[in-house]
Amino acid sequence: MKGVVLAGGTGSRLDPLTRITNKHLLPVYDKPMVMYAIDALRGAGVTELMLVTGGEHVDDFRRLLGDEFEYGNQETPGGIAEALGLAREFIGDDRLVVMLADNIFGGPISETIHNFQQQPEGARVLLAHVRETEHLRHLGVPRIDGGRIADIVEKPSDPPGRLAVTGLYCYEPDVFDVIAELEPSGRGELEITDVNNHYVRAGSLEYDVFEGYWGDAGESIDAYHEVIERVRRPHFGSERPRPIPLLRFEDERGWLTEIARTGGLPKPIRQTNVSFSRQGTIRGLHYHERGQDDLFVCLQGRARVVALDRETGEAFSEDIGEDNFAAVYVPGNLAHGFEALTDVLMLYHTTEEYDPADPDEHQLPWNDPRVADLWSTTSPILSERDSAS
Ligand code: DAU
Repeated sequence: MKGVVLAGGTGSRLDPLTRITNKHLLPVYDKPMVMYAIDALRGAGVTELMLVTGGEHVDDFRRLLGDEFEYGNQETPGGIAEALGLAREFIGDDRLVVMLADNIFGGPISETIHNFQQQPEGARVLLAHVRETEHLRHLGVPRIDGGRIADIVEKPSDPPGRLAVTGLYCYEPDVFDVIAELEPSGRGELEITDVNNHYVRAGSLEYDVFEGYWGDAGESIDAYHEVIERVRRPHFGSERPRPIPLLRFEDERGWLTEIARTGGLPKPIRQTNVSFSRQGTIRGLHYHERGQDDLFVCLQGRARVVALDRETGEAFSEDIGEDNFAAVYVPGNLAHGFEALTDVLMLYHTTEEYDPADPDEHQLPWNDPRVADLWSTTSPILSERDSAS
């Protein structure tokens, strides 16, 4: 799988910041904007990369990134799909992942790449939650029908949903034939949304939903500064729990499910535990400071996983087990715990081994006011340690 980073365009929405440099070379906290896309791709194992930008900027990127990259020169900004078309020779017969160099993901994109590798054909996009209608009006927005994308509308005045198409796209090499057939849109560009709608019509556009923070730093000067504010926060990139649906393969003998594929997780698993908890028990709130994350799977019964971002106060809860067979990946810097809604058999993987001599275990009270009303009980069964905090 090869990667293409698109860093062309006029940058007019960030004028005058972009009068003397390319938008994707502007600083975003401690590195140039483009480095976020490159690091995300490399972090997902995509290391053979090409960067496409406007002619006068190729040398600037080369000074930053060196000769490990292939460079493409987009003479005039004729659209995202046109810029991608310049990567045809570099890609050859490989599959590819494309990333817009103004997109910033607060977490790994490896799951989407991994899922695309399993996908027999077509294309795959990554969607993200966007709450504000005004913001959705600047993006590509899918209309989802029966769990499938029925259509993507570019910059809709009346957005058909609350998910946006981010600037991460996975394609088979036949995408270059699709681009060759495109007609310029009303604004004179070859639109990536038209490429994606081709795969919608062919019935082969799949998607994932990104559960972490996603930002488009090129949208406006305000959006650029908002992204910087987010990136500056401690633990940026590992601040949201992630539910991972588990598929059951059933036959007359029973069923089988894959609990964890390390390839799709931000970190490898190092230890696995199982606990039994009587109905009404709460275990938590715990957090880790040396990089341990946890993956919870409710094997029997129903459990409520609760997590709290200790800095922003953002809280999260998800019921898993019967009715919702899913794992929840919890970045360990979040305070987290679970409540046994019935008797519960909980499996949990951890990304560090437990060190009894110097445990990386810290805690907040289970009834911290920021999460207290997420539990279904006010008088849980607690361990001595959990009731003392
Ligand atoms: O960020 C996600 C959005 O990106 C999607 O939701 C939209 O569907 C998609 O069209 C795109 O919308 P934008 O309005 O953000 O596209 P923009 O024109 O800002 O281009 C995004 C990046 O693509 C830009 O940072 C560099 C690259 N690009 C763009 C154009 C127009 C090129 O390399 N060449 C180009 O000619």
